[in-house]
Amino acid sequence: MTETQKSATLSLNGETYELPIFSPTAGPDVLDIRKLYAKAGVFTYDPGFTSTASCDSTITYIDGDKGELLHRGYPIDQLASKSHYLEVCYLLLYGELPTVNQLEDFETRVTRHTMVHEQMHNFFRGFRRDAHPMATLVGVVGAMSAFYHDSLDVTDPWQREVAAVRLIAKLPTIAAMAYKYSIGQPFVYPKNDLDYAANFLHMCFSVPAEEYHVNPILSRAMDRILTLHADHEQNASTSTVRLASSSGANPFACIAAGIACLWGPAHGGANQACLEMLKEIGSVDRIPEYIARAKDKNDPFRLMGFGHRVYKNTDPRATVLKQSADEVLDLLGVEDNPLLQVAKELEQTALNDPYFIEKKLFPNVDFYSGIILEAMGFPTSMFTPIFALSRTVGWISQWKEMIADPQNKIGRPRQLYLGETLRDYVDIEKR
Ligand code: SDX
Repeated sequence: MTETQKSATLSLNGETYELPIFSPTAGPDVLDIRKLYAKAGVFTYDPGFTSTASCDSTITYIDGDKGELLHRGYPIDQLASKSHYLEVCYLLLYGELPTVNQLEDFETRVTRHTMVHEQMHNFFRGFRRDAHPMATLVGVVGAMSAFYHDSLDVTDPWQREVAAVRLIAKLPTIAAMAYKYSIGQPFVYPKNDLDYAANFLHMCFSVPAEEYHVNPILSRAMDRILTLHADHEQNASTSTVRLASSSGANPFACIAAGIACLWGPAHGGANQACLEMLKEIGSVDRIPEYIARAKDKNDPFRLMGFGHRVYKNTDPRATVLKQSADEVLDLLGVEDNPLLQVAKELEQTALNDPYFIEKKLFPNVDFYSGIILEAMGFPTSMFTPIFALSRTVGWISQWKEMIADPQNKIGRPRQLYLGETLRDYVDIEKR
């Protein structure tokens, strides 16, 4: 970042303080308040971090007003149409698009790490069959730190690299195992002659009893979903991974923390919540009732899959996914699926309703990803695990960036304390 000659002047209690201003390569300037408490004895207050830059980063840039999403400068719509997930993984991890040889080497390294330690199969047996796959994912990914002892030392660049490749390679295998376990089918091993997305579909949907052929249109749609969810600046789960990493915790524990945060319905759990909402609405004639509920301040109901903290016009990922949704629905001939009819009608209603227009609430990435995954045959409980396996590369890229940053220190926010001031203990007989 470039320190400008500009600064902001704060007048407080008869004193003035100069706050340096840093200018980014894109986006708003930032006020450097790192010395504010030491100089002025005050904290800033920003629950939900609506006006706070928690770090500097060179990985992903979002312009919420323009609906722009860049990964290392490349716009998401170009990456979604011209690239593929593992190439985007390379870009996020190393900062540049790979040459043919670099991509071949990276894909080979990932492919050779897709199997998990055979003893990890035993973890799954400890879960109930009806456990949510996200519960299994949090548990098994965290437990990777009990197996891969040669990639736990975050101070060793080589171990950081191995941990990154292992996580990108093994998350699809673990997510597919969680799915297979939940439906009582045998685990399916990865196949080295399949690409990343096709391998995941194979591990989820093939059975030993017959040959399974991956449909290239579904595999392409899956790869696009993975590409579109790969990274997204300092969202809640990425911030969780960064905060966990700031204590020096091992990469598997940090990614497990990110998975736990992503699970929430306000974040990565929204795709599951969105499909469950569509099922609850059930038919097109009930949409007005739910639109009214979404507007009712006294009703906690929100339209899942709508709205975004940063995007205030359109989520560029949703635009791309909407095209994929049409392709997949056409292929699978599920145009007449009542659920998908409700989705299309709800989308049109919300997009034309003054309330949603005024509040800038439009379909986000989770609205369309849920529709595609539903059409592909995934249960809603697998939607967020798929989001998690895609976002692992974003988490681990941001983790690597943070660990390598010489300014890296443990994250330790303060608070606005509103509790009791000092008082003496009262013996129980006197209470
Ligand atoms: C993801 O951060 C990221 O980048 C996340 C993500 C990523 O890739 O990592 O993009 C992935 O999490 C996408 C978002 C998925 N979540 C959902 O679809 C859940 C439904 N959406 C809402 O919960 C909400 O829109 C959020 C959480 C996404 C954003 O919330 P904000 O920015 O905190 O906005 P807000 O809650 O302050 O809402 C502003 C207003 C409020 O009304 P007022 O109090 O101003 O009158 O809009 C209303 C809200 O009541 N509102 C909604 C709404 N979302 C906001 N009203 C109805 N339905 C909604 N979905």
